[in-house]
Amino acid sequence: MKYLGIDLGGINVAAAVVDEAGTILSRGKIATPRTGAEAVAAAMAEAARQALTAGGFTMDDIESVGIGSPGVIDPKNGVVEYWSNLDFHNVPLAEMLKARLGKEVYIENDANAAALGEYAAGAGKGSQSMVAITLGTGVGGGAVLDGKLYTGFNYAGLEVGHFVIEYNGRLCTCGRRGCFETYASATAIIKRARERMQDNRETLLWKLCDGDPEKVEARTVFDAAAQGDLLAKELVEEYQSYLACGITSLINVFQPEVFCVGGGVAGAGETLMGPVRAIVDREDYARDSKRRTILTLAQLGNDAGIIGAALLPLFR
Ligand code: BGC
Repeated sequence: MKYLGIDLGGINVAAAVVDEAGTILSRGKIATPRTGAEAVAAAMAEAARQALTAGGFTMDDIESVGIGSPGVIDPKNGVVEYWSNLDFHNVPLAEMLKARLGKEVYIENDANAAALGEYAAGAGKGSQSMVAITLGTGVGGGAVLDGKLYTGFNYAGLEVGHFVIEYNGRLCTCGRRGCFETYASATAIIKRARERMQDNRETLLWKLCDGDPEKVEARTVFDAAAQGDLLAKELVEEYQSYLACGITSLINVFQPEVFCVGGGVAGAGETLMGPVRAIVDREDYARDSKRRTILTLAQLGNDAGIIGAALLPLFR
């Protein structure tokens, strides 16, 4: 049995053909258009076709399609009720893709899909409770408690990117100030790097981006820090402090058995997580408990969302 998984991100639409064990067989990828829902649905169909072609498959080989989309998702009606980043309001994305691909389409919040993926086949396997966050264009969150995805009564739960960690802090796309994702997303570290580079001509970041700040990615900052660049080290440390602050607060709320960190920025691995773990370990309110939350990187890496999305019908 093969499934198509689509991870709709703020930058790219990634698609993959996935088997029932969660193994990715082939992939497709296309930039996310910022010109409205129709264009996004067309891009998703295109990425899906790329994935099929890359693996030598046709739509007939596919059981169903699953989308992981940012925002508040009504999975029953297949609707993106709200996504601040692309200003989506009540977009029937599942139906729009079904019309293009001619298959049953399931949809779930992208971070919920990642949490399901990690729970089924990654870091959360066999745990009593797991919270997963994803660090990408935004910051997403999902929780599997006693084997069940917790979404809140209206599917809008676990929007961890939008809990405030700095009162009156940086402006978020949702309209509030100080949201976790304005400090802990890939977008946040990139924006901060671009700002700080302006009055720091010596930083290695200029060399790594060929003199074009638009080319700076989260990875660029981690690479420069690894090479000893002072500004980059400062940016990484600042990022880690905010990330650890948010994670500790979430652990204090949920005390999950496993807390898993995924998304693009988590690709920095232990370089990112080592210092974060040290802060969380010190600050977690349950520091004296015999049993402590395991804070770990997503085992499926940045693929957790796409695998979870593909396998959505198996979780229903
Ligand atoms: C959105 C979430 C999403 C996360 C990751 C946030 O900005 O509000 O719904 O899960 O980004 O994409």
